[in-house]
Parts: sequence; C-alpha cells; structure tokens
Amino acid sequence: MEIKGQTAYITGGASGLGEATARTLAAAGATVGVLDMNEALAAKVAGELGGASAACDVTDAASHEAAMASLRDAIGPARIFIACAGIATGAKLVSRDGSATPLEKLTGAIRVNLIGTINSMRLAAADMAAMDPLEDNERGAIVTTASIAAFEGQIGQGDYSASKGGVAASTITYARELAREGIRVNCISPGLMDTPMMDGLPDEVRQSLVETTVFPKRLGHADEYAALAKHIAENRYINGTVIRLDGALRMAPR
Ligand SMILES: NC(=O)c1ccc[n+]([C@@H]2O[C@H](COP(=O)([O-])OP(=O)(O)OC[C@H]3O[C@@H](n4cnc5c(N)ncnc54)[C@H](O)[C@@H]3O)[C@@H](O)[C@H]2O)c1
Repeated sequence: MEIKGQTAYITGGASGLGEATARTLAAAGATVGVLDMNEALAAKVAGELGGASAACDVTDAASHEAAMASLRDAIGPARIFIACAGIATGAKLVSRDGSATPLEKLTGAIRVNLIGTINSMRLAAADMAAMDPLEDNERGAIVTTASIAAFEGQIGQGDYSASKGGVAASTITYARELAREGIRVNCISPGLMDTPMMDGLPDEVRQSLVETTVFPKRLGHADEYAALAKHIAENRYINGTVIRLDGALRMAPR
C-alpha cells in the first residue's frame, strides 16, 4: 500500500529498530503511533514526528488494549503495524552450580517477544479487519521482528531463540489465517543491529560477531531494518514470509 496518508503503529517505537521505523514511515507520509513501555521516550519520539504515543506493556492484555484505544482516538486505527518491542535474555538450563535454573529465568523473552507479539497481532488484526479494503482487497500489513537466533541461537540463548522461533514459525500461519481479511503478515529476522539493545555487549564480543558477518563487515543499521519494514508495507505481493537481514551472518554456537 502507499504509505503516505496511512496510520502506522510501532511497538518498541521508542528505541532502536522501532524508533528508526517510526521515523522512516513518518518521513514517507504516515501518521505514527508509538507504543512502548518507556512512556517518556515514546512521547518524545512521537512528538518529534507529529504522531501520538501510548504507554504499553505488550505482555499485558489490558495495558495493550488501553494503549490501542488511546491511539485510535488520537490518530485513528492502523493499517500498518510494526512489532518491534522485545528484550534479550541469556541463561542456561543448568546453572554453574549444577542446579536447574529457575523457570522464570528461562521464559522472560518468550513472554515479551512471543506472547507480546501475539498480543499485538490480535489487536492490530481486529482493528484492520474492521477497516474498508484498499486495492486488491488489502486492509493492512503486519510486520513482526524475529532474529537469526530463531535459526542459529547461541549457547545460553534458548529462551530468546524459542521466542523468536515462535514469531518466525507463526508468520505463515497468521498470514493464512488473516488472508480472508486482506491482512498480510511478514517477519523480519535481523542479525546484529547497532541499537541500544547491543550496548551491553563487551567490545571484544561485538568485534568477534562483526568478524563472523560475511558482508558488509559491520553491525546492521536500524535504518536498514526500517527501509525493509517500509518496503514490506508497500509491496503487496510480499506475504507470509520471514526475511533475514543479516549480512549473511550465521552465528557460531558461542
Ligand atoms: N539489535 C539487534 O541486534 C537485534 C537483532 C535481532 C532481533 N532484534 C529484535 O528487534 C527488536 C527491537 O530491538 P532493538 O534492538 O531495537 O532494541 P531496543 O532495546 O533498542 O528497543 C526495544 C524497545 O522495546 C521496548 N519494550 C521492551 N519490552 C517491552 C514491553 N513489554 N512492552 C512494550 N515495549 C517494550 C523497550 O522499551 C524498547 O524501547 C526486538 O524484538 C529484538 O529482539 C534485535
């Protein structure tokens, strides 16, 4: 669909990939709604772009529903929905002392990245389904965010890999399910992107990951994610697919 004149909501839009996407879509003429747990940053980004923001915890049904209602009132329902909210976690099944790791340390990413994304998708899809169809009967486009850890997770990333594997695997299922409503569902699977999420990585780890990247030998830019998300929203024939954005990186076990 043509971006200009559409309304786009972005979860995790206060930072990193989501923020870059909010800026790119706004520059292309969309009115943006920024959904994020970080209320102050979300308001700052939305304010700079002439959009609206709402505090939202994607893991919480009531919080997400209230945030969607607030954005609907402010800027109307979204035809474009980009799900970028997410967290990175790390823990092994068995702790150093030989004891089983507490379950809650092994499920945080599944809660935010997978259940949160499903929560976003159900609300986005319900709004889109109620809108008038455009050309080809298209009503909306949803873009979710997995990670190459869905396919080559490193040791200690089981929770994160499982969360992203779930997002990637359900893409075709939801695309099939929502086809009747004219809603496309696609997923971007990034490699290593230069965002605040990567700030915690020690320099030597960052450097070794860059070395493993085939070409170009650097971290990805958030703008490169945003450009792909925009293209997916524009290109009606892209549906039900997971697109890697990773400079041909295949991560080693550790
Ligand atoms: N940066 C990378 O290298 C990379 C690689 C692969 C996948 N990803 C994925 O891309 C997405 C965006 O990551 P990023 O690098 O931009 O990170 P980021 O930390 O810069 O941004 C993530 C945003 O999500 C928000 N958020 C976290 N939990 C939330 C919740 N429960 N409800 C609402 N908002 C919440 C945060 O407040 C933050 O603004 C994530 O899903 C991440 O797993 C990132």
